[in-house]
Formats: sequence, structure tokens, C-alpha cells
Amino acid sequence: MTQPPLSASPALSPAATFPADFAWGVATAAYQIEGAVNEGGRGQSIWDTFSHQPGTTIHGDNGDIACDHFHRWEQDLDLMGELGIPSYRLSLSWSRLQPTGVGPLNPEGVRFYRDLLAGCAARGITPYVTLYHWDLPQTLQDDGGWPARRTAHRFGEYAGLVAEALGDLAEYWITINEPMCAAFLGHSWGMQAPGIKDDRLAVRAAHHLLLAHGLALAEFRARRPEAKVGITNIIGNLNPASNSEADRKATEYWDAVSNRIFLDPVYRGSYAESTIAAYGQYGLTATGEDASAEDLVQPGDLAIISAPGDFAGINHYTNMLVSADEAAPGGASWTHVLPAPSSFGWSNTPAALKAVLKRVAAEYTSLPLYVTENGATFHDYVDPNGEVRDPERIDYLRGYLSAVGEAIADGVDVRGYFAWSFMDNFEWAEGYDKRFGLVYVDYGTQARIPKWSAYWYRDIIAAQRSVA
Ligand code: NOJ
Repeated sequence: MTQPPLSASPALSPAATFPADFAWGVATAAYQIEGAVNEGGRGQSIWDTFSHQPGTTIHGDNGDIACDHFHRWEQDLDLMGELGIPSYRLSLSWSRLQPTGVGPLNPEGVRFYRDLLAGCAARGITPYVTLYHWDLPQTLQDDGGWPARRTAHRFGEYAGLVAEALGDLAEYWITINEPMCAAFLGHSWGMQAPGIKDDRLAVRAAHHLLLAHGLALAEFRARRPEAKVGITNIIGNLNPASNSEADRKATEYWDAVSNRIFLDPVYRGSYAESTIAAYGQYGLTATGEDASAEDLVQPGDLAIISAPGDFAGINHYTNMLVSADEAAPGGASWTHVLPAPSSFGWSNTPAALKAVLKRVAAEYTSLPLYVTENGATFHDYVDPNGEVRDPERIDYLRGYLSAVGEAIADGVDVRGYFAWSFMDNFEWAEGYDKRFGLVYVDYGTQARIPKWSAYWYRDIIAAQRSVA
């Protein structure tokens, strides 16, 4: 494998420290990499349906083939092993395991994931398994989807079956990935599956995704008491655009509807007043006390949702500037702080991740934290030497990893970092246009080409593990 020149490989900040057993990892998700959507007895998911509807994704891209990981997983794990990456966060396709979202698991799906997880073990890679990364079986959508309470119960049953069928092959389990995106991008903004634009349904989906987390946690506790289980939330860092009262209020509002709506129920056992102020109109109450049978939040829901997990998963990408804006929903609008030269226009401001880690530790939980995703997309291309040089991503990773190590040095209990993503993949509505991978994928040939950042990450991991 070719090496990036040393000038492209500055070390991490000297203030950064990492524990010896720190989980250095990469992450992916089933629909974004697997392809083979009609093979192995897999059922349809809402992403199959959504991405095949005209106008939903760039160029009409879909995950039918994606990285063809379903057929190439052995080579992909080999490459991960060669790069010396010790931890891998992956997700299970619900409709591959349980094609209609009810009934027994599909033996072919179980076989695929048993082989995949055993393949991780054979290469010394520790899997971190996400149960739900946005690909709801279409039949459950037809039965009401996440806005319907019964979907949370279907998920609990599915989690129980997975715990039985696969629980011996992984210690770490993430119930739900980013309920914020599943609920709001899917049901309010309409830019992700199932493509609904209805705030009331989005709030219902949010509550039921949290309930689904709690029910899945209980299933794992009952069937696999040794498993370590948590939920992953996406947490942006929010800054008021100015010191004005109006901008501070707008920031509180945005915090209430994007961060606190998911953090408070899980780690404090009730919805925050600021969240209820925004969404009480859709039936959100603090704990569901005195609720009647048709109310959204039922008595006992918050106890299920806030049952102690084993870690808190944090995905972090955005550092936002929030301003009062009468024309925007809730009177708040936001932009990215100092957009990086990244093709998404997102920021490269590592201090934001440090602030988020410190906030969660100070305000929400003493559980170990894992950065279950962090990364950026740049204009990556294969040069005439066959290399993919991405010094921007190396700079990004160096900054954010340093921020994690500095937070640890300051006393925050962070146990792992998973770069998004192991390889370029189907970036949802952005299709194949956005490349987040450490490994470049030439989709036409399915060739994998490690970018410079992959070699850099390999060397950082090796250096850190040798000093730890
Ligand atoms: C978070 C999501 O979990 C992941 O699926 C997505 O690709 C990345 N953000 C980048 O947008």
C-alpha cells in the first residue's frame, strides 16, 4: 500500500490522551453499503421505496447495489484488518433479518450476519452493532410506521429475536441510530424516507423511536445480560449568532427540538419544558402522567426510555450559528459556523465536538461516551497515479481526534471513536455524490482504494496503541 508523505501526517495534539483500550473504529450502515436488495430473502424497506420515487435522491440514486458489500464483505473486512482498524460499527438490515417486520427471522439473513460477525472476530475486529439505521420494513410503514405506537413494539420483538440469534457474536449493541434524523428528516422535512412532511407525525415518530430504544434495551437485558447496550444520538453544537436575547432564545428553541428532545427522556427521564413548549401542541408531555389511552406519551413510557444503558453514543457533525428568524419554524434559523471546504459546507471546528462531549458528561450522564460517528465529505478523486489524496480529511480527523483526546485529558470518559465512514457509500438523499469514506469506492468496478486518510488513520492507531 502506498504511504502519504509525512508532511500530510501531523500527529495529534500533544494534550490528547487515550486509554489503552480505546476503541479506534470506523462505521457503516446496512442500506448504505450492502446492495443485494432482492437477495437472501430480504424484504423491502422504506429506503427501497423512497429512493425509487422520482425526485427523492440526487440523480435518482438508490441502494440497490451500493458497495455490493453483501457479496464483498470478506474482502472489505480483510482491508479493514490490513489497515489495522480494531473496531467496526455496522448496522443490521431489519428487512433482511425479518422481511415483513413480524414473525420469525429469515434464516438466510441470520446466516449472513453470523458470517459477517464471525468474520470480524476472525480478523481481531470488535463489532459494534446497530439494530436500526433507518431502514424500516415497508410492511410496517404500510401499517403506520414510526408515528404508530405498535411499531415500537414490533422493534422490541425484533430486538429480542436478534439478541437470541446474534447476541453471542457481539458485545456492543446500539439500539437506534439518530432518532432525530429518522423522525424529523423523515417525517417533517420530508428529505429522507418515508418522505412525510407533517410535524405532528414527526413528533409521534420521535417518541416511538425512543420507546423502541427502551423496549429493545429491556429485551437485551432479559436475554443477553452481558451485552453492553446504548442509543446513538446526533448532537450538534449550537452557538447563538449574537448575545441578543432573541438569538439566545432561538438557540434554546433549536436545542429543545433537535438535542434535548432525545437527550432528556433517555438520560433524565422526562421531556424538557422547552421541548414541551415547542411540541406540546402535538401531544408531548413530560412523563405521560395522567394520560388517557389515546395520548402520545403513556404512563410508564419514560421509565422504559430512561432505563440505564451501558454507554451513550454520540454522532457529531455540525457546529451551528442560530439566529432569531420570524419567518422560520419556531422563530429560529441556523447556518454552519465557518463552513469548511467540504462539499456539504459543514464546519471543520473540532472544539465543537469537545464542547458536545463535555456537555453530555456534565449535564446528562456519567456513562462512558462513544463517538459513534464523525467525519466529512470532500472532493475526492483518483489521480493519475491511482492515489486518492485527501489532506483535508486528514486535517479534519486530526483536529477532531485531538479534540476527543483533549476531552479525555480533561476528565471526560470517552471510550471510542468511529470515523464515518469506512468506505464511500450511498449518502441517502445525496446518493453517491458525497464521499465520506476513508476508502474510495469506484462504484462502476467496485474497486476499493484506501485514501491517504486511511493510511494516516492506520498509523495514528498503531502509534497510539503502542504507547498506550
Ligand atoms: C449520520 C448518519 O448516521 C449516516 O448514515 C450518514 O451517512 C452520516 N450522518 C453523514 O451524513
